[in-house]
Amino acid sequence: MKTLSGIESFREIRKTLSDKSVGFIPTMGNCHAGHVSLVERARAENDICVVSIFVNPTQFNDSKDFTSYPKSLGEDKMLLERCGCDYLLTPSVKAMYPDNYTWQVQETHLSQTMEGFARPGHFTGMLTVVMKLLQWVKPQRAYFGEKDYQQLQLVKAMCEAFFIDCDIVACETVRNELGLALSSRNQRLSAKGLEMAAQFPQLLRAATSRDEAEFMLTNAGFSVDYVTEQDGRRFAAVSHEGVRLIDNIVLDAS
Ligand code: PAJ
Repeated sequence: MKTLSGIESFREIRKTLSDKSVGFIPTMGNCHAGHVSLVERARAENDICVVSIFVNPTQFNDSKDFTSYPKSLGEDKMLLERCGCDYLLTPSVKAMYPDNYTWQVQETHLSQTMEGFARPGHFTGMLTVVMKLLQWVKPQRAYFGEKDYQQLQLVKAMCEAFFIDCDIVACETVRNELGLALSSRNQRLSAKGLEMAAQFPQLLRAATSRDEAEFMLTNAGFSVDYVTEQDGRRFAAVSHEGVRLIDNIVLDAS
């Protein structure tokens, strides 16, 4: 695995890969089995697998969340190398934002709801960095997790809107043995909090309606931000021990 941080250095390499299919996984690092599942899928479906680690400052609406975002580059490198990543891109903020974030990609509908409503500016920052990364890496396929379903939908819609020739591949949410979706932020939970957090997906699934889900989650002691149903899915965000958890499940058609 080659690690590169310069925009130009990977651009030069990309030119030599014109006869290969490139699969790309953008991440913010602190990699876990959820990230690994995306890398393994990209590995299986493409000749070359590229991963980026960039903790994108523009998508954090809370500066404390940004500065305390867990970083583990050494371990990430070992993990990514083991699961077959060919190129790891670790650009600096300066390299990613030579324009000082004066250029932005903004979506005005879906991005205003759910996570976008709770975190103003989050999706503009996310879409802007994903647009930059896609232009840099020029992958045939890019892999995104269903855990962040709204993100996945927005990236797909952005590629359609801007005629970007890249397949956005949706990958199933990877969960721990108790059903909690893996997330870098789970590390901030105490052992007891982690146990409690596992009730989040369980209750989200057990409830027979949106209202019941909200009631059950509140009753269990979560601070509920939203529970919404759309496109055959139930989406929710809750907080526990000051950690924001998001998840979504497919609603049974029956
Ligand atoms: P990050 O949170 O590091 O996630 C990188 C990718 O891994 C995303 O597509 C996310 O949905 C996926 N992922 C995270 N946890 C997962 C899980 N438990 N199961 C399956 N996939 C999972 O999402 C971001 O970074 C950023 O917003 C980014 C797209 C890199 C732009 O900055």
